[in-house]
Amino acid sequence: MNVLLIGSGGREHSLAWALSASPMLDALYCAPGNGGIAKLAQCVMLDVADHAKVIEFCSANDIALVVIGPEAPLVAGLSDDLIAAGVKVFGPSRAAAQLEGSKAFTKELCRAHNIPTARYGRFDQAEPAKAYVRAEGAPIVVKADGLAAGKGVTVAASVAEAEAAIDDCFAGRFGAAGAEVVIEECLVGEEASFFALVDGKTALPLATAQDHKRAFDGDEGPNTGGMGAYSPAPVMSEELCRRTMDEIISPTVEGLAQAGTPYRGVLYAGLMLTEQGPQLIEYNVRFGDPECQVLMMRLKSDLLPALVATADGVLENFDLRWRDETALTVVMATKGYPGDYDKGSVIGGLEAADADPDVEIFHAGTARNGDDIAASGGRVLAVTALGQNVAEAQARAYRAIDLIDWPEGFCRRDIGWRAIAREKAA
Ligand code: AMP
Ligand code: GLY
Repeated sequence: MNVLLIGSGGREHSLAWALSASPMLDALYCAPGNGGIAKLAQCVMLDVADHAKVIEFCSANDIALVVIGPEAPLVAGLSDDLIAAGVKVFGPSRAAAQLEGSKAFTKELCRAHNIPTARYGRFDQAEPAKAYVRAEGAPIVVKADGLAAGKGVTVAASVAEAEAAIDDCFAGRFGAAGAEVVIEECLVGEEASFFALVDGKTALPLATAQDHKRAFDGDEGPNTGGMGAYSPAPVMSEELCRRTMDEIISPTVEGLAQAGTPYRGVLYAGLMLTEQGPQLIEYNVRFGDPECQVLMMRLKSDLLPALVATADGVLENFDLRWRDETALTVVMATKGYPGDYDKGSVIGGLEAADADPDVEIFHAGTARNGDDIAASGGRVLAVTALGQNVAEAQARAYRAIDLIDWPEGFCRRDIGWRAIAREKAA
């Protein structure tokens, strides 16, 4: 079958890599793709905001499945329009994508179905929002309701900081996404990422993972899209996975089905593991980046039939097999990220770094420039390795990184630190 993959990040490179291994695949197209994806797929320039153009491309190229990587096209309803045109899609409808597109929507769903999450209030005006903050006290979390490219959340240490974040939001810092704010109790615990394929009624849990959101070692510096990840997450015991399925994922899937907006795609729950158990911080309606890279590295089963079964609503008897090893990925970013950075610097040494069969280098923001690979984004590479444990996977990933010649780039040197501390203590 012919597949069209939408997106341009490290997540999509790892999806392209897994899809390429499928005996069911004939041709793989990626819109727009990147310098690494170009080795596996035919990269095409398609304006994914122009749904009619995407539909036209699918019929011209006999596309049997569209896999949508990022959230924006999902929230914009690309799935709905493709399905209406008779094209099979992996990725939820616009209505179900509200789980990521509106924090208030998710909080209401949690309230209606008793899903554990932080206590909250929602406001469309600054004054009542500030009054709520003053009544609750700090620390407290202020969130723009809509999609804000990962920048809409402020974990405020003081009431003044929370009030400033509220003002920012209503002053239009996030455009329409900030027309409403959600204010939440600050949860305390360790964070983990939980993924499940959902076909409308059945949820099939995937492997667990943990991400590192801050830019610098020791979890210092600004929040980013994610600087590194590993799978499995040793903190996610079988008991915690079971509770997450029973208390969070299943009621969400049932709630959306009851509402007439069944969820189909991958559901990504950002969890806080509190003393009372797992609580939902947020939902995403797509794979995590860079969590996807470590999941794909560990997936032994063929990805393509799993995505098709999700789209077809037949996950019930489906099973996926995972490698027992740990996968760990380290993101290399352009200096300056997540702030301003230059584009176009050339990256050397990639072939040597990629030579280890237990290493895969997924490209997140690269472009081909003749024979060169040049940086074209903030997060640029996700250097991913397998190992018998987290320490071994980490050592292998950093050995590969040390072979990469890219003075304009940087990475954290401590990806996996929590899990390695756990391994040492065990
Ligand atoms: P994002 O929405 O991905 O930008 O993530 C925001 C980050 O803010 C999360 O990964 C958490 O670290 C933190 N966060 C969000 N909500 C809460 C909360 N209720 N309590 C504590 N931390 C939170
Ligand atoms: N790694 C976090 C995210 O994809 O949102």
